[in-house]
Amino acid sequence: MPTVVQLRSQLEALGLPTTGKKSILEARLSKSNTSMVDLTNSNKKSRTRKTGPKSFHAAVAAGGDGSDVSPSPRKKRRTGRKSSNSSASSSSSSNKKTSAKKASAKKKAASKKSSSPDDDEDSDSDNDDDINVHEKSDMKTLSKLTRQAIESKYDISGKKGKEGTTFVARGKSGKEYAIKLFKATKSSAKIQREADFQALAAVHGISPRVMAVNTTQKYIVMEKLEETIVDFMKRKYPTQGEPRPLTNEQQDRIIEICEKLDEAKVVQNDGNPLNLMLDTNGTLMVIDFGFAKKIDKKVVKKRGSEPNINLTLWHFHRQLRHYKIMGPKLSERVDTYMRRFNASRKK
Ligand SMILES: Nc1ncnc2c1ncn2[C@@H]1O[C@H](COP(=O)(O)OP(=O)(O)O)[C@@H](O)[C@H]1O
Ligand SMILES: [Mg+2]
Repeated sequence: MPTVVQLRSQLEALGLPTTGKKSILEARLSKSNTSMVDLTNSNKKSRTRKTGPKSFHAAVAAGGDGSDVSPSPRKKRRTGRKSSNSSASSSSSSNKKTSAKKASAKKKAASKKSSSPDDDEDSDSDNDDDINVHEKSDMKTLSKLTRQAIESKYDISGKKGKEGTTFVARGKSGKEYAIKLFKATKSSAKIQREADFQALAAVHGISPRVMAVNTTQKYIVMEKLEETIVDFMKRKYPTQGEPRPLTNEQQDRIIEICEKLDEAKVVQNDGNPLNLMLDTNGTLMVIDFGFAKKIDKKVVKKRGSEPNINLTLWHFHRQLRHYKIMGPKLSERVDTYMRRFNASRKK
């Protein structure tokens, strides 16, 4: 088990950002070792590292103090315990200043890379881990909104949820973002945790990048997606009661999402189809890490080596059927996995 210091020095040697807590560092390192080229965001920009998980900013962009804890009734299926000890950096209004200081000190040592949008000078293209120059400048405003400002200024995306509501906000650059505004009673620590899990998934290109976390006003700013798979399929197949078949590509992508969640060591654990959304390219992404937990030994013991096939994919497949959205490859993948898993347990 490498220490945080060892992880940081390895990342530094690779020219990768060294910010964030241990799980983020590990994810970043393993990502850089395993698949350098298959990230959704990669394009022309060439740096030492070609892939563009521009994501863990999220994790980094956070660091709630957890002081404001009032357990929320809904998402209590969650069990993971450690909560953000990632207070090293944050874009939440409460601890931004400390973060800025730390980051600028670090910058002197390592000329590049930092964590919070405000501190980041390496901000050229969309292809970077780091938030780009437009996003950075947009976050100056969007990371410091009040709840009232969000509610009065912006339109809702989708439906008002139990846990909160997602709004669409336009930054000064013209770019749009999604702001997930939680119930005022939700604990800061839980919001931070949710953002951290999403950031881990975003490293794998399967979730929108987290741009900022405000644990005081209780919201997360992330990349905006276009529509849920449910709305998309209802548009494509408007006749009620008729089957709505997913394409092979869509089915493969949903399976890939679950496999990459396993790689990220995060069980998303909420296979509601409204948590599957398409981006502007029509690529499916997973959102909502409100039920997520870390894949530890206990989870593997109970659910096998692919907990997201066992739980998340199983759930997606069943729930999609409620909307007549059909995906035979999904059930095949789940069934094969479950057969093997159950057989291995009997031995
Ligand atoms: N990144 C996003 N871009 C656009 N809309 C989003 C985004 N994230 C969430 N939404 C909208 O908000 C809805 C609820 O978001 P979700 O994170 O699932 O909240 P909840 O925890 O209340 O289920 C989604 O189904 C979608 O319609
Ligand atoms: Mg949801």
